[in-house]
Amino acid sequence: MSFKEKVIYQIYPKSFLDTNQDGIGDLPGIKQKIPYLKRLGVDMIWLSPIYPSPQNDNGYDVANYTAINPMFGTMTDFENLMATAKEHGIEIMLDMVFNHVSTDHEWFQKALAGDKKYQDYFILRDEPTDWVSKFGGNAWAPFGDTDKYYLHLFDKTQADLNWRNPEVREELFEVLRFWMEKGVKGFRFDVINLIGKDEVLNDCAENDGKPAYTDRPITHDYIHMMNQATFGKEDGLITVGEMSFTSVENCILYTKPEREELNMTFNFHHLKVDYEDGKKWTQMPFDFARLKELFHTWGTQMSEESGWNALFWNNHDQPRALNRFVDVDNYRVAGAKMLASAIHLNRGTPYIYMGEEIGMVDPDFDSMEKYVDVESLNAYQELLLAGKTEQEAFEIVKAKSRDNSRTPMQWDSGEYSGFSDVAPWLAVGKSANEINVAKELQEGSVFNYYQKLIHLRKEYLIIAEGSYEVFLPDHPQIYGYIRRFEGHSLLVLNNFFAKETTIELPAEFQTGEVLISNYDNEELNQDFTLKPYQSIAIYR
Ligand code: GLC
Ligand code: CA
Repeated sequence: MSFKEKVIYQIYPKSFLDTNQDGIGDLPGIKQKIPYLKRLGVDMIWLSPIYPSPQNDNGYDVANYTAINPMFGTMTDFENLMATAKEHGIEIMLDMVFNHVSTDHEWFQKALAGDKKYQDYFILRDEPTDWVSKFGGNAWAPFGDTDKYYLHLFDKTQADLNWRNPEVREELFEVLRFWMEKGVKGFRFDVINLIGKDEVLNDCAENDGKPAYTDRPITHDYIHMMNQATFGKEDGLITVGEMSFTSVENCILYTKPEREELNMTFNFHHLKVDYEDGKKWTQMPFDFARLKELFHTWGTQMSEESGWNALFWNNHDQPRALNRFVDVDNYRVAGAKMLASAIHLNRGTPYIYMGEEIGMVDPDFDSMEKYVDVESLNAYQELLLAGKTEQEAFEIVKAKSRDNSRTPMQWDSGEYSGFSDVAPWLAVGKSANEINVAKELQEGSVFNYYQKLIHLRKEYLIIAEGSYEVFLPDHPQIYGYIRRFEGHSLLVLNNFFAKETTIELPAEFQTGEVLISNYDNEELNQDFTLKPYQSIAIYR
């Protein structure tokens, strides 16, 4: 089965299931839930980092790439998880954080101790540039008691690696080989479009310096080298690159098969349509016209140039999409299904973030004390400094914090939502009694809807292989597209609002077959009315 037909499920290990009652999710917990994931029907699970790490950025600060963090279990636990997954026909994708290492990593420690070989593993300069760290503040920090500075595009404890050094590249390629030998079948590459830095680094006032280090041409060369040295040789291995602040032109280059870089890319433009002036720590209703324009441009161009998108609404860095795009108090269930259809029937490989399949929502925390994420805590302080009141700053953090998606998985209505018997590392969301797996499987319909979407992708090749065509580009409520493949067509209509709307159905679809809808009005007339948050897919 090609990566186009697969559906991938993301697990944030810290928050999935705790089996040894220390308040932290673990590998045996994931193993225990493999049958649940099998029931859902996903093909692969992507695990956010499980390696030794001081956890300043929850594991995205890796201290050792080829070991398991004792907090999650042992290498044997990992192998057992792999074996159980395999029995159930589920593959494993690991997260590779290759732009930076934790300053606890032995490479950085040796460099600090004066070892010249390891100093060349990092980006050291006499003069810092004006680049701003993605987690706030200047992106350079003093390197020990030398008079140099090291680059950290993220936290101070995440030092950027020097990919210009062939030894660094070889070390990282060896990491991939290590996990491939264990049977890992997928890699998600963290902020991989930032790895290639220019030889001379220049100040850049625009956009906090991003253009100076993002999507540099040499990055494509490094990814191609990595492909050729490792996964490119193995059939069926799936790769996805997380692309920060990227462009469709670059994503076509990263994913066009003949370039031998990656299978697909994540980009985040569609998740910035509720950012005021492009700034994350603001609050604004989402801009639907902008969202559509982005989906249509990316959909069309990737289709025409044979690039490939990773499709997603949620991940561990985003507040829950339901809270952002849907009137969640009145239409949670219909909205969850509509959002799911909008991407699962689209051209690209869909990703489900844990809890999405039961319509989980943001935790609705009451105070700043509940938040632990480094980025959120820094942002809160910066908002105060910028003159916001505590209440205003809290409201923004509440809407935007990454902790929104990192709260424990809601398995049942037990004290800690069936996640653990003890207080978890991050509090359980308020909705846990209402929204949980046990209840959903008994009486809900969101899980079943996801099951059906996953199944349809395998049954109707048009979903995996069809081209992408824009439908009703100017409609104020509907995001619509047409897929075409070998004489068949699939029209997908999604009403993004709580208001009905009537459209004229093109003649070719008036006689079509409804593949899936979140409402039962299956009569296809020339004038077709979409109910609030209705989604419908018509095949012919
Ligand atoms: C990616 C990860 C995010 C992390 C950052 C730095 O964006 O998804 O969680 O903080 O990279 O590694
Ligand atoms: Ca545990």
